[in-house]
Amino acid sequence: MSEEERGARGSYVVVKALEDGVVIMGLTRGKDTRSHHAEHLDAGEVLVAQFTELTAAIKIRGKAEILTEVGRVESGS
Ligand code: TRP
Repeated sequence: MSEEERGARGSYVVVKALEDGVVIMGLTRGKDTRSHHAEHLDAGEVLVAQFTELTAAIKIRGKAEILTEVGRVESGS
């Protein structure tokens, strides 16, 4: 499936796990907010991702470093 078909859009978000068992959940766009995907990272693993037509937000459980175009933040600290 092409990026266009998936509706991938815009800039990338980088999430680096700072401990084992970090979970990144993709939340659906639209009227209801559902978790449609969960990605598990261990310490040092990095996920580089884009938002899509399906994914409006992400939720991160655990200690991670998050880089976006609006800045850097740490979760779970
Ligand atoms: N379904 C929500 C929406 O499309 C998803 C969402 C976007 C969201 N931003 C959020 C959920 C911030 C919680 C917090 O608007």
